[in-house]
Amino acid sequence: MKQSSFSIKYQPVHPGTENTTIIFHPETPDLCAIFTPGRTSGERRFFVTDGTVARLPCIQQFTALFDDGRCGRDYLLVIGSGEPYKTIESVLTIVKAALKEGFARKDIFVGIGGGVISDITGFAASIFKRGTSVEFVPTTLLSMVDASIGGKTGCDFDNYKNMIGSFFPARTIHIFPRFVESLSSSQYNSGLAEAFKTALLYDRDLYTIFLEKSESILSRDPAVINEIIPRCAHAKAKIVENDFMENNIRMYLNFGHTFGHALETVVGLGNITHGSAVAWGIGRALSLSARKNFCSQSYCDEVLKMMLLYGWDTEGMPHCVTGGDVGGRIIKAMHKDKKNSNSKICLILQKGLNDTFILEMDDDDILPVLK
Ligand code: GLY
Repeated sequence: MKQSSFSIKYQPVHPGTENTTIIFHPETPDLCAIFTPGRTSGERRFFVTDGTVARLPCIQQFTALFDDGRCGRDYLLVIGSGEPYKTIESVLTIVKAALKEGFARKDIFVGIGGGVISDITGFAASIFKRGTSVEFVPTTLLSMVDASIGGKTGCDFDNYKNMIGSFFPARTIHIFPRFVESLSSSQYNSGLAEAFKTALLYDRDLYTIFLEKSESILSRDPAVINEIIPRCAHAKAKIVENDFMENNIRMYLNFGHTFGHALETVVGLGNITHGSAVAWGIGRALSLSARKNFCSQSYCDEVLKMMLLYGWDTEGMPHCVTGGDVGGRIIKAMHKDKKNSNSKICLILQKGLNDTFILEMDDDDILPVLK
């Protein structure tokens, strides 16, 4: 992979949000080289990361430059790691520290981390002094292929995913595929689920890669990683460029998410990775599509068989849930989904590979695939 970049253009939601430049860096992540912390000119940077990312060997050189959070005119805030920190309190912690350190609207927030960090840093940027610019350095596969791209920001609320937030795209996203070497197997597998979703929605060649190269994918072969990440970033860029505010085609990116977010709520946010929940949701959406004869049973079976290669749960009754009335509890959580506009549940379904549509359904239609 050579260093390369491309831009996504939007209708601006705020001055400075009219495009995102995505830069792919083939080298070992070196944040000192791309940011030069403590530089004496240019905008001030308010960096946000989490405790796990801050300890990565390739980031330590960068974090070590900050003394009590400060390096010259720049600041680094380290917050707790993971879904339990995707809260309005974390967003306000960022805002409060930026205010205390005297940051201005013309300065910039920089989120370094996975989807939780990009979502809360982007949201804080969107409300700080009515909006300051934001950049991201995604460090998880999930964030590189999905979360950091397209301007969805926010936090969880009341045990429901992403209930508060804004559309506020990053100015620049620095993607270092080599960060995948630092991920736990569950984090890596979580990101693969979003990449697999992209294959099912938009990219036949990527589907073939998932079908034929599972060993290379699972062993994190750099050649295959360097193929998967740009393919997903370009596919997502095309969609958000055409439907930034999710009025129509962007909703397809929620394939598997209505089921998946509900599962995350039922097991408790943070108790299952987002990707595992989405993968299970993709299986449910396809089983429902086949049951209703929207897609062939053979397509559904092929996908479910592939999913087993990657260790994803393809059962109607998810293995991670205990207690009674699992289907009823999942349906109840599905009713909270942001796509719903009435008493029915809005679902993303498929007629076949790369052939997707949206349908509102009654609980009784959905319940049979939750057994
Ligand atoms: N992750 C779905 C979206 O960005 O629309």
